Amino acid sequence: MSAPKKLFIKTYGCQMNVYDSERMAEALGGEGYVETKSPDDADMILLNTCHIREKAAEKVYSELGRFKGLKADKPDLKIGVAGCVAQAEGEEIMRRQPLVDLVVGPQSYHRLPEMEAKARTGEKVLDTDFPEEDKFEKLKNRPKAKRGPTAFLTVQEGCDKFCAFCVVPYTRGAEVSRPADRILREARDLVERGVREITLLGQNVNAYHGAGPNGDMTLAQLIWELDKVDGLERIRFTTSHPNDMQDDLIEAHGTCAKLMPYLHLPVQAGSDKILKRMNRAHTAESYIRLIERIRAARPDILISGDFIVGFPEETEEDFQATMDLVEEVKYGTAYSFKYSTRPGTPAAERAQVDPAAADDRLQRLQALLTQQQREVQDSMVGREVGVLFEKAGRLPGQMVGKSDYLHAVHVADCDRNIGDLARVRIVSSGPNSLAGELIG
Ligand code: SAH
Ligand code: SF4
Ligand code: F3S
Repeated sequence: MSAPKKLFIKTYGCQMNVYDSERMAEALGGEGYVETKSPDDADMILLNTCHIREKAAEKVYSELGRFKGLKADKPDLKIGVAGCVAQAEGEEIMRRQPLVDLVVGPQSYHRLPEMEAKARTGEKVLDTDFPEEDKFEKLKNRPKAKRGPTAFLTVQEGCDKFCAFCVVPYTRGAEVSRPADRILREARDLVERGVREITLLGQNVNAYHGAGPNGDMTLAQLIWELDKVDGLERIRFTTSHPNDMQDDLIEAHGTCAKLMPYLHLPVQAGSDKILKRMNRAHTAESYIRLIERIRAARPDILISGDFIVGFPEETEEDFQATMDLVEEVKYGTAYSFKYSTRPGTPAAERAQVDPAAADDRLQRLQALLTQQQREVQDSMVGREVGVLFEKAGRLPGQMVGKSDYLHAVHVADCDRNIGDLARVRIVSSGPNSLAGELIG
């Protein structure tokens, strides 16, 4: 038998790319590839890229440049670009970087084995179609290998919201939900392989409306089906849009014990003028009322968010409205970005904010968010939380896991194993994690 070929995948961007990379590795596994951690001994390199901000997209070209020497030493090495940059700039990549053999958009990964075979014959291959077929169904045959305790599972892809700054509707296409039976089958399979926590993924995961036995299902209905899967202990989902936060999902946060008290609910800005210009179709007030309703259902829920500062036409007053909203909501964690002009999006055509002003706003916002994050983390001290252990700590006898609220927790003198879920009392709060002790 010939030695297996080696595949190196580098993943940028969001969790959906992490999930896609796993599935691509599995698909190429069927073609005799095994994964390697280093590009140096690879027979194929795949970059799974992100187009969300300018810096993310630029990284692809600088990374590709670095593979020049490798390819000179090993002419059989094949280099592929996947993901959202592939979708947005596929032909340009081929033109700008002759090293690239293969370009595959996010909706065509099931065609990867075929494309790889073509590339092996020396052909350049590009596929950025949005085919009708379910790529994940065609990508099946996930191997039965044992896995760690947590996994991502994509249930919905694409976006129809067209926020004025965002490339996702163009790179991932229209909103599509996977049928519930396929998701449940995949979830059971993951659990058999050792998974205890599943994070359901979608660019607009709460817009999920996949086919079920009695018509389309909501995300909450899907969560209740997953709740019945024995051995699955925790369910999470991300990313949600405020306008798709339906009543049954809010209610599930109060009543479904496996659904974790953590919600990533991006608002982007606190000024109604800016929200309107962003095409978010909600106001600051309606978002705050929504958070109140969610907290009424689950008072201890940790709220996470995304923010953009320096969106075109944002004034200092608009920015202050974002700071006010943050003060009101109090975030347990948050991601904030300086607006990045994306070609082809409506906001790219508008009057841009002075970059120095945007930098200054970003700093002020991040200082406030960091302070809130710290306060929320510190408030965990003295509380009892569930912790799912994911790995051994650096100290002997120590284990590390995530709390229900997604904080990293270190437990000393811990006789539990990876994959065990334990009750833990939090005893102290450090810069990036909590320390706790087992209860009972
Ligand atoms: N579908 C999700 C996430 C989309 S991308 C949602 O709607 O919330 C993740 C985050 O990147 C966004 O929430 C936004 O804060 C940020 N982002 C998207 N486009 C951006 C741009 N052009 N410049 C800066 N940040 C951007
Ligand atoms: Fe982008 Fe808006 Fe869709 Fe989120 S909801 S993916 S920010 S267009
Ligand atoms: Fe990036 Fe595409 Fe995800 S642009 S954030 S990898 S959907």
